[in-house]
Amino acid sequence: MNVLVVLAHPDPSSFNHALSGAAVRAARAQGHAVVLRDLHAEGFDPILPAAELRKDAPLPPALRRHCDELAGADGIVVVHPNWWGQPPAILKGWVDRVVRPGVAYEFREGDGGEGVPVGLLRARAAVVLNTSNTPAQRERDAFGDPLESIWKRCVFGLCGVDDVRRRTYGVVVTSTPAERAAWLADAFELVSGAFPAGSRA
Ligand SMILES: Cc1cc2nc3c(=O)[nH]c(=O)nc-3n(C[C@H](O)[C@H](O)[C@H](O)COP(=O)(O)O)c2cc1C
Repeated sequence: MNVLVVLAHPDPSSFNHALSGAAVRAARAQGHAVVLRDLHAEGFDPILPAAELRKDAPLPPALRRHCDELAGADGIVVVHPNWWGQPPAILKGWVDRVVRPGVAYEFREGDGGEGVPVGLLRARAAVVLNTSNTPAQRERDAFGDPLESIWKRCVFGLCGVDDVRRRTYGVVVTSTPAERAAWLADAFELVSGAFPAGSRA
């Protein structure tokens, strides 16, 4: 199967980069073909221009490749830190531009866009790996853990991916090397389990 890994973190020495490495190794160990999209490394432009709003809009070739990779993925992994309870802007822009109508979802015939869209993604499972400096209970109690809803309901659920497995690793800033090693092992296991060898998703 094809596994798409999307990483949003500006620092190559970050724990997020280490997590994406674990995800890539896990998917390859299960025999899958992996595409890693490091959005900062490639200088992904997150601004959705008016010219791309229409479902049938012609897309720049580089963006078309992103869309084709997403549409062709049997499994998807997203890796990013919690920034203000949200994905970093570069990843929000990837969602805006790549997770687009005709690629990831569409409205039924006769629906002017006010109804419930139909998910188009072929991937049946996705993994979301987050990092945070807020303890998990405070993230839930004080903020409602918005990333849980963003990925499971607003993005993947809407696009037809119902099996979304998410972890938040933290508190990163005070973590020990042993904790980080255990988190990397956990991420490896999570990705291996979500996309086992021989599965389509
Ligand atoms: C712009 C910005 C906003 C952040 N907002 C939050 C936040 O809302 N909640 C939180 O727990 N951590 C927040 N953080 C901390 C990051 O989540 C933390 O640095 C990251 O998860 C650590 O992983 P890393 O070592 O891979 O960067 C923020 C960091 C930055 C730079």
